[in-house]
Amino acid sequence: MRKCVLVSGGAGFIGSHVTVELIEAGYDVIVADNMSNCDLTCFEGVKKITGKDDIPFFKIDFTDPVAAELLFSTNEIDAVIHFAAFKAVGESVNEPLKYYKNNLSSFMNVIESARAHGCDNILFSSSATVYGEPEELPVTEDTPRQPATSPYGNTKTMCEDILRDCVKAYPEIKGIALRYFNPIGAHPSALIGELPRGVPNNLVPFITQTAIGKRECLSVFGDDYPTPDGTCLRDFIDVVDLAKAHVFAVRRMLEGKMKKDYEIYNIGTGTPLSVMELIKGFEKANNLKLNYKIAPRRTGDISALWADPTLANRELGWKAERKTEDTLAAAWAWEKHLAGK
Ligand code: UD1
Repeated sequence: MRKCVLVSGGAGFIGSHVTVELIEAGYDVIVADNMSNCDLTCFEGVKKITGKDDIPFFKIDFTDPVAAELLFSTNEIDAVIHFAAFKAVGESVNEPLKYYKNNLSSFMNVIESARAHGCDNILFSSSATVYGEPEELPVTEDTPRQPATSPYGNTKTMCEDILRDCVKAYPEIKGIALRYFNPIGAHPSALIGELPRGVPNNLVPFITQTAIGKRECLSVFGDDYPTPDGTCLRDFIDVVDLAKAHVFAVRRMLEGKMKKDYEIYNIGTGTPLSVMELIKGFEKANNLKLNYKIAPRRTGDISALWADPTLANRELGWKAERKTEDTLAAAWAWEKHLAGK
C-alpha cells in the first residue's frame, strides 16, 4: 500500500522541493502550511512539476492543537516531515517569544496528534546552526552542539531535544533530525524556489535579486576572517539534493531500517566554499557581473562551518550530487522566472 507523508510547512522553499521528491518517489503527500511566510507560488509549481493537480493541501497553523488533531484524525498519515517554523535569525533576536511560541508549540502539537493517531515516524528539519562555532571542522554528528546564538537557533536545539525525549519516552515513536547546512538553488524547472519576503537575509537570494536589479549592491559581510580569501566558509547544499535526503530518511523509517530510534544526520556536501567563491561562481555560471562591495562583518556570523556527511552517505545511501554551477544557474533561472523574464 502507498504510504502517506505529511509535509508541514510544505508550501515553503524546502518543503515544496521535498514534496516534489516524495511524489516522484511514489509517496502520497499531504501539504499543510499556515502561509505566514509564503504564497501559493511554490505549491502551484509543485503541481506543474509533478503533473498532479490533486495534492491535498490544508491551510493549517500547527500552533492550534485542535487543527493539528483534526488533520490527523481525518487522514491516514504514516510519517511527518516537520518544516513549519519561523526562520529569520535577526528577527528571532528581536522577537524571541514569537519564535519560541511558534516553533516549539507547533512541533509539540504535531508530535502529540501524530502519536494519538498511530503515526509513529517524525522527521524534524534541523540546522547546522546547532553546532555554533565548532572547535573542529568539518563537523560530524558527534561534534558537541554549542549554546545557540539566537532564539531561532535555540528552537532548533530545543526541538531536537523534544524529539529525542519523546522517542525515549514513547517506544513506538521513531525520530530523525536532519541538520541542514546552507540550502541554496532552486528546482531545475525554475518553477519552485526561494521566495523571501522583504529584504533577503540569506546570501543567494540577495545575489539573485542584485543580479536582476531589485537590489543595488550586495554587501559581502567581512573579508578579514581567518579563511583563505578572508570571507566566510560555508557548506552550500543544493535544495534538490537536500530534498532527496528526506526521501532516503523517510524510506529508512517506514521500512523499519533505523539502527536507533532517534537518528541525526548532517545534510551537506562536505566541501566548504567561501562567500567570494560563491559570488564568482554565480558570475561564471550565468555569465554576468554582480555589483558587490566589501562591508563590515555581520554580527553573529561564524567564520567557517561545513559538514562531514559520511554518516548520511553511508546510512541513508544519500550523497549530494549537483554541481555548484548548476545550482547557481537554477537559482538565477528561478529569479528570472519570478520576474517574468
Ligand atoms: C543562516 C542560519 C542558518 C540557516 C541558514 C539558512 C544561523 C547562525 N545561521 O546561515 O541556521 O540554516 O541561514 O540558509 O543561524 N552574507 C553576505 N551578504 C549577504 C548575506 C550573507 O556576505 O547579504 C554572508 C554571511 O555573512 C555568511 C554567508 O554569506 O558568511 C551565508 O549567510 P546566510 O545565507 O545568511 O546563511 P548563514 O548565516 O550561514
